[in-house]
Amino acid sequence: MVTHHMPQTDWIWKDGEWIRWQDATVHVLVHSLQFGSSLFEGIRCYDTPEGPAIFRLDAHLRRLRDSAKIYRIDIAARIPALAEACGEVVARNGLRECYVRPMVVRGYGAAGLSPVGSTLDLYIACWPWGTYLGEGALENGVDVKVSSWQRQEPNTFPSGAKAAGNYLNSQLGRLEALEDGYADAVALGPGGLVSEGTGQNVFLVRDGVLITPALDGTNLNGITRDSILRLAADLGIPTREQAVAREWLYTADELFFTGTASEVTPIRSVDRIPVGEGRMGPVTRALQQRYLDIARGRAPDTHDWLTRVPEMAAATV
Ligand SMILES: Cc1ncc(COP(=O)(O)O)c(C=O)c1O
Repeated sequence: MVTHHMPQTDWIWKDGEWIRWQDATVHVLVHSLQFGSSLFEGIRCYDTPEGPAIFRLDAHLRRLRDSAKIYRIDIAARIPALAEACGEVVARNGLRECYVRPMVVRGYGAAGLSPVGSTLDLYIACWPWGTYLGEGALENGVDVKVSSWQRQEPNTFPSGAKAAGNYLNSQLGRLEALEDGYADAVALGPGGLVSEGTGQNVFLVRDGVLITPALDGTNLNGITRDSILRLAADLGIPTREQAVAREWLYTADELFFTGTASEVTPIRSVDRIPVGEGRMGPVTRALQQRYLDIARGRAPDTHDWLTRVPEMAAATV
């Protein structure tokens, strides 16, 4: 089952204060709401034998800092506080596994496009979030289509910034895919080559080589993408970051999505054409297993990817 309703937790962090979930409201005229200017991250916290641990927190906060910098916001000095608060928000809400959502919000004040005069507000929320592409997706794989919506040109909306406005394009792709009976979509870039999913990067396996579209200014530098490239190297799987033509999706031996929410999700068909055997292939399985084993503390954290959540009683008042 795909989760359609946001599960509510108790506490949200706002600039060093703890506020109730239902009190984390804004004025309808905040800059980010009018103009899509908030920057955000999506991070997962996994239950491990040593307690909850956040996966690649530093990499996510680095990307948040970069996203902000591209939009002329300097949050460098705030990163240590944000890092601490990401662990605390999980502990304070009494969760062992969840999705963590830091946000940099241009707030109320400016009437027009220039944000001068608007407040700048940092928030961190978290909530339980199961398998993003539906129950069984990690084992059975998903059916996708090539989106009729293409990704933006480089030097239009910077794809390296995780800004809310970029997700208008992703929403169009995802809405179309769901409407047409697919789990999600793969989008092409302006040159007609494969870019990425609506909230995922994409990988294919061909003759034992792991291939993913190069970061070309049309796709996000996914942290799961980076993790998978590193794990493939650990496992001795050759990798290539390069241009990928649409038809390679149809003729690949294996195909999968990577993303914090989607984790490593096999793709079993594209445009109703079965990929390989139409089920999860051996390379995908090995990488998915390794990824989840490290995230869940079942394999040694050789890359130093886990940040333990502090022991702390869940707050009730
Ligand atoms: C457009 C887009 N591409 C790729 C990804 C995957 O990135 P990550 O692995 O860092 O979650 C995401 C998810 O954040 C995304 O929204």
